[in-house]
Amino acid sequence: MDSQTDSIEYSLIKLTVEGPVATIQLNRPEVLNALNLQMVDEVIAAITHLEEDPTTRCVIITGNERAFAAGADIKEMAGATSIDMLTRDQFARWDRIRRFKKPLIAAVSGYALGGGNELAMLCDMIVASETAQFGQPEINIGVMPGAGGTQRLTRAVGKALAMEVVLAGRTLNAREALQYGLVNRVVPVEVYLTEAKRLAAQIAEKSPLAAQLAKEAVLKAQEGSLQEGLLAERKNFYLLFASEDQKEGMAAFVEKRKPQFRGK
Ligand code: CAA
Repeated sequence: MDSQTDSIEYSLIKLTVEGPVATIQLNRPEVLNALNLQMVDEVIAAITHLEEDPTTRCVIITGNERAFAAGADIKEMAGATSIDMLTRDQFARWDRIRRFKKPLIAAVSGYALGGGNELAMLCDMIVASETAQFGQPEINIGVMPGAGGTQRLTRAVGKALAMEVVLAGRTLNAREALQYGLVNRVVPVEVYLTEAKRLAAQIAEKSPLAAQLAKEAVLKAQEGSLQEGLLAERKNFYLLFASEDQKEGMAAFVEKRKPQFRGK
């Protein structure tokens, strides 16, 4: 692979360009890369720039060894009302990542939880380290997945397991994720990013036009009426912000105590 030729500093992500392969690194390690509005906006700005750059053929999104991303930023959402969430419609902007035309690989180590798992599943392929953990733990804080989890996880691993992950908060380790078809490959933590770059370089050698149209076709096969499902999911997620359980669940997280859910 070419040596690094370009590196731009954003404030919450790092973008590195190595020949035809660009790597976006989520960079809020102190909060396990919790996805706040600004970080998602920076990811979108980066992919928009990379989509326009004809030299970029494949893009990797990664985090660090401990966390790909531990979910949407709970502290940013905790006090929101249902109407705030509906008006902000923060997960709608993730559709821009879905519409990215070039191949997108998630290189995942450590936590890929909630929005982190949803971001990984938005990518076309996932290369995981042996320490990767995938889950949708929103149920533990009184809400549910809101950025594609109920739809994409179900399509990836099937209804039975998806129900367990979404309803019981079960986490899948890397081997399980491979077994159930959520990820493409599992490699030692020391090489997960190298392995993702190797796969990206392989794809970057192909026709970018063919890759773009093939990606579009595979997604068509995969998604069907996903859009309707996503809209329904998003509305329901926002609706949960009318509940006391959401307030309690997120407050308990922030205060580091066990939540008391009352079904209200
Ligand atoms: N939002 C905001 N901050 C988060 C966060 C999140 N999703 N996940 C972790 N953090 C912060 C913690 O608050 C903590 O910050 P402080 O040091 O300031 O207290 C820091 O990251 C380190 O986290 P922990 O001390 O909790 O680390 P741990 O090793 O003990 O636990 C963990 C790791 C199990 C991943 C735990 O952090 C956790 O449960 N995180 C929340 C996971 C979650 O519920 N994700 C779903 C969010 S909702 C969502 O994503 C909606 C959607 O569908 C888009």
